[in-house]
Amino acid sequence: MPIPSRDDKFSFGLWTIGYNGADPFGGPTRAPLDVVHAVEKLAELGAYGLTFHDDDLYAFGSTDAERDTQIGRLKQALSDTGLIVPMVTTNLFSAPVFKDGGFTSNDRGVRRYAMRKAMRQLELGVELGAKTFVMWGGREGAEYDAAKDIRSALERYREALNVFGDYVTDKGYDIRFAIEPKPNEPRGDILLPTVGHAMAFIETLERPELFGLNPEVGHEQMAGLNFAAGIAQTLYQGKLFHIDLNGQRGIKYDQDLVFGHGDLHNAFALVDLLENGGPNGGPSYDGPRHFDYKPSRTEDETGVWDSAAANMNTYLLLKERAAAFRADPEVQEALSAARVPELAVPTLSVGESYDDLLADRASFEDFDTDSYFNGKGFGFVRLQQLATEHLMGAR
Ligand code: GCO
Ligand code: MN
Ligand code: MN
Repeated sequence: MPIPSRDDKFSFGLWTIGYNGADPFGGPTRAPLDVVHAVEKLAELGAYGLTFHDDDLYAFGSTDAERDTQIGRLKQALSDTGLIVPMVTTNLFSAPVFKDGGFTSNDRGVRRYAMRKAMRQLELGVELGAKTFVMWGGREGAEYDAAKDIRSALERYREALNVFGDYVTDKGYDIRFAIEPKPNEPRGDILLPTVGHAMAFIETLERPELFGLNPEVGHEQMAGLNFAAGIAQTLYQGKLFHIDLNGQRGIKYDQDLVFGHGDLHNAFALVDLLENGGPNGGPSYDGPRHFDYKPSRTEDETGVWDSAAANMNTYLLLKERAAAFRADPEVQEALSAARVPELAVPTLSVGESYDDLLADRASFEDFDTDSYFNGKGFGFVRLQQLATEHLMGAR
């Protein structure tokens, strides 16, 4: 089994390992997890980072003194273990006041309060050295069409993000924002439901360079989308600021399973992309490999740490398998036969104009579509089977 190390940049949300098993149908099955114990265990298992919502560290409604105590305990645990806080986020979904959302609640007072709560957590994140501020707008949405003016809601979202962009710029803070899309749950429909919606929205902001994505495996798969393909587009557009790794089995409620305990083929493609999809065959992403999963409510505390380790082990095993796939001469030959490298060749020649293209009879008038392939296929299935055999450790 590969052994995780700090260089692998594995991080976990405090709310993931701290999940007590409560769901809409039943109460907790596990005792609360203390932050100091969480930091010590994660360090022992080989993680490098802890992330958290404000409310994960100190309960909503805490006094300033209670908040300071918890922040002090966290800082001490970080300095004792060497763990870092690469990302923070704010909880604008649990407290009843956010029942119609935070930045996009119909109620203006709630919107102002939400902005203040986020800015307070932003300050703490900067103090702890976090480089990313995640925004998952779980309650930013609606169940009923007439109840939410979507265009106004997007305008209010935009207003909040523009203010945050100005704030970190004026203060000179070295932190960027990552929007996390999700199609539904807890709202019937959530604003910015997919990677594509969020990337298009970012371009409307006043400082788009400060905003990127924190896509989650399960969230795109809840919408029936191909996660690895979505990640490829975020990379193409320079918008992969952070990533939430987990597992999901098809279009259903948000399962937050261990990474790989869902669509394993797509997890393989994802790790191959992150680790080998860079311009020179190296990593295409060098940020945290962040796990946002929930240890199932059937598990006890041992099961919590086993499942935390399982996320990292699966990632590292897939990394090994992806390296073997890329190094296999038969795979390289199958990639060429499938003409995969040819897609990188521009369709027009250097200096060729549309007039030249229009004058090129070979590309149209004399192009024989009937006999062009002479019945020959691309061999994509063979390539996928080679990937499958590598994934299964059969090669
Ligand atoms: C979910 C979400 C959340 C967010 C987290 C960060 O499973 O619905 O992933 O866990 O990532 O709250 O704000
Ligand atoms: Mn999720
Ligand atoms: Mn998430």
